[in-house]
Amino acid sequence: MENIIEVKNVSFSYGQNQVLNDVSLTIKKGEFIGVIGPNGSGKSTLMNLIIGKLKASRGQIYIFGESIDKLKQKHLIGYVPQRSFSFNLSFPATVFEVVMMGLYASIGLFKKPGAIHREKVHDALKIVDMYEHKDTLIGNLSGGQMQRVFIARSIVSDPQILILDEPTVGIDARSEKNLFDLLEKLNKAGITIIMVTHDIMAITEKVSRIICLSGGKVNEHCTAIDLLEAGASDLYGYPVKLEKHEHGGEKL
Ligand SMILES: Nc1ncnc2c1ncn2[C@@H]1O[C@H](COP(=O)(O)OP(=O)(O)OP(=O)(O)O)[C@@H](O)[C@H]1O
Ligand SMILES: [Mg+2]
Repeated sequence: MENIIEVKNVSFSYGQNQVLNDVSLTIKKGEFIGVIGPNGSGKSTLMNLIIGKLKASRGQIYIFGESIDKLKQKHLIGYVPQRSFSFNLSFPATVFEVVMMGLYASIGLFKKPGAIHREKVHDALKIVDMYEHKDTLIGNLSGGQMQRVFIARSIVSDPQILILDEPTVGIDARSEKNLFDLLEKLNKAGITIIMVTHDIMAITEKVSRIICLSGGKVNEHCTAIDLLEAGASDLYGYPVKLEKHEHGGEKL
C-alpha cells in the first residue's frame, strides 16, 4: 500500500516547551487511525503539523510523497479542528456559507462559486443531516449541530485525507453514531482518516490502528494503561491519568 503520510524525525517546540521529540510515523492510504494520549501530549500539535499549519522545528513531513511546505493541493486534506464549535459564535455566516468556505482552496478566494459548488455544499449538508438548517446563522446552532457543519465543511472538497480532532466531544449518542457510520463509509470509499479521540467505542470498534502519544513520543504499540486512560476519560468526561503502583510483595 502507498504511504500517504510520512512524518520523519519531527520535533516541535512552542518557545522553550518541547512538545514533540523526534517523532516518526507512516500512514498508508486507506487506513483509519485513532490517535490517543493524555491532555497536553501534543495530539493537536501533531495534527496541525500534518496539515501544514505549524512548521516542524526539525524533521520533515511528506503528504502524497511531497513535502508539506510544497504541497499545492491543500484541499485534499480535510480538517475538523478541536472544539471547532467554541469560537467565533458571533461570526455572521450561515451554515451554507461556512460549508462553502471548505471549497475556497479549490475555487480560489476571489472567484465566485458556481452552481457546481452550491450543489457540492448541499450534498455535504445532506450527508451530515443539516440540509434543512442551511440558511441558519452558525451562531444559532447547538454544539453538536455546529460540529456536523464543520464536518460537512471538511468533506465538501472531496479530500483524500480527513483529520478530525476530538469530533465527538459535545455531541449526543445518536449524532456520534451517525458520525462514525459516516466516517466508516468515507473510509470504505478510500479516504484515509486520522481521528484524535477519547471515544472508547471508536477506539475499540472503528479504527484500524491506534497511535499513542506521550512524553513527546509516538508509540504504535499502545499499552493497556494508554487504552484504560482514554476509556476512563471518555466515561467520566474529563481527563483521567492512571498511575502504576509497584507493589513490593507486601502480605495482606
Ligand atoms: N499555541 C500554543 N502556544 C504555546 N503552547 C501551546 C500552544 N498550543 C499548545 N501548547 C502547549 O503544547 C502542549 C501540547 O498541546 P496540544 O494541544 O498539542 O495537546 P493535546 O494532546 O492536543 O491535548 P488535549 O488532549 O488537551 O487536546 C501543551 O503543553 C500545551 O500547553
Ligand atoms: Mg488537542
